[in-house]
Amino acid sequence: MKLEDYFDSRKKYVERGLKKYLEPINMYPEVLYEAMHHAVFSGGKRLRPILFFAAYETLNQNLNVRSLRKVQPVACALELVHAASLIHDDLPSMDNSDIRRNNPSCHKKFGVPAAILAGDALLTMAFEVLTNVKDAKKSVRCVELLSRAVSTRGMIGGQTVDVMTTGIKARLNVLKYIHQKKTGALLQASMSLACEMADAADNTRASLEMYAMNVGLAYQIIDDILDEIGTTDVLGREPGEDARNDKATYAAVLGLEGAKKTAEKIIDDTYKMIKPIPSNEILVSYLSYVKDRVPI
Ligand code: IPE
Ligand code: IPE
Ligand code: MG
Ligand code: MG
Ligand code: MG
Repeated sequence: MKLEDYFDSRKKYVERGLKKYLEPINMYPEVLYEAMHHAVFSGGKRLRPILFFAAYETLNQNLNVRSLRKVQPVACALELVHAASLIHDDLPSMDNSDIRRNNPSCHKKFGVPAAILAGDALLTMAFEVLTNVKDAKKSVRCVELLSRAVSTRGMIGGQTVDVMTTGIKARLNVLKYIHQKKTGALLQASMSLACEMADAADNTRASLEMYAMNVGLAYQIIDDILDEIGTTDVLGREPGEDARNDKATYAAVLGLEGAKKTAEKIIDDTYKMIKPIPSNEILVSYLSYVKDRVPI
């Protein structure tokens, strides 16, 4: 299957699940449900659930969409965490972004209090959704793995260092920490969760987790490059936000060319990690997709 067809079909599948889990917007208090819907359904590439499906299907070999039903809650939980993280990331006290995905950001549309609470609600909902995993032991393990990825040691820790280093010329190792935690941790969780659901062997799991951590690091380096020179079409808003916020980025430290080369090198090294995994075509294409985001 071509990558675009795969992306499209798995994107639709996770969106079907999200529609099922998110309550209707006419519930009281309406503003909260509307803000949650806005954050989840105003676009989004669904990269984390797609990567989760890609790994799960690779590990099981030749699955079809119907056989994904038992892991649909896990894919949805990943996207719910991501949606929550973006609401909070855009807040005036964080990146102060008025636009997300070519739409007003959540707090711009619904106000800061509703946006904070919608983020809290989506994050909490992610863990509630994981209780829909039928195998109770696996359900608990999924909660453990996802909470660890979000925690002080994961995404939240990364976002903390990100905001704390704003305005400071961060060293490269600090920058790497930020990217790996704020972006890498959730992508890595996509792999840990896929391996948990597919009963993968420890060495396969280690390779896939390393793969996803590198994807996260490269993805964030490229996101920062795009923030400097990308088009509104790709970014979903005007470029130049990181400079306005005086953010520490690879491009700021290494220059645009240096940052591009670093991202490309990370991706090239990552192909090797998944070479021994059979039927790895989608995982390979996924890497190429990330690499192709680097603007020429
Ligand atoms: C944006 O993530 C935040 C970063 C980690 C750079 P995505 O680029 O996956 O955002 P959407 O969900 O597709 O809008
Ligand atoms: C966001 O990174 C990472 C998380 C939300 C965890 P960015 O701040 O670079 O993402 P964009 O550029 O706003 O999408
Ligand atoms: Mg940010
Ligand atoms: Mg941001
Ligand atoms: Mg960015």
